[in-house]
Amino acid sequence: MKKLAILVSGRGSNFEAIARQIRAGKLQAEIAAVVANVPSAKALETAETLGLPAISLPSKGIDTDTYAAMVVEQLAPLGIDLIILAGFMRRVGTPLLEAYRDRILNIHPSLLPSFPGLHVQQQALDYGVKFSGCTVHFVDAGLDTGPIVAQAVVPVLDGDTADTLAARILVEEHKIFSEAIALILSGAYRVEGRRVIRKD
Ligand code: GAR
Repeated sequence: MKKLAILVSGRGSNFEAIARQIRAGKLQAEIAAVVANVPSAKALETAETLGLPAISLPSKGIDTDTYAAMVVEQLAPLGIDLIILAGFMRRVGTPLLEAYRDRILNIHPSLLPSFPGLHVQQQALDYGVKFSGCTVHFVDAGLDTGPIVAQAVVPVLDGDTADTLAARILVEEHKIFSEAIALILSGAYRVEGRRVIRKD
């Protein structure tokens, strides 16, 4: 069984959706570790409730590359196939990128390359776009720049606030993340330049 490490910072609803897909037999994978860089992350409680290995590894005050090396050290004995950033709100440092080259996926609540970074639902509202959505992409050294694996689109409605738009996007995040993970774990894809293409 392919092994996932899930990195989280907070609520963990994407992590929980993935865990439930696995439990339901719809995603063939094992969650070997849930690592939170914020000790109060609700995701840690959820991991414990689900009987999954939860690791609190605080990143406060630690620079990006040092923290990445700490994560590599934690994960090294576990034989991780794919790292999943599920609401992980720190940049990924070089040691982690090098140890897991092309084996880190992130989910982002906008249609990249529009609105990378933070507070992206508010950015979408401020810009006035009529559609937004979410993106699953490989993680590279840039900010939300790696090759795109999957996207889903939602409408932006006239009465939306950042919260109502975020909630509409989140429903789609919970669907496409597990689908994208399944595709990458299956190996039935190739990357041509920036394009992730399904093999027949
Ligand atoms: C999700 O909307 C995810 O796309 C976003 O944080 C939220 C985490 O929710 N991630 C980013 O903005 C990464 N740049 P969750 O903790 O309930 O999964």
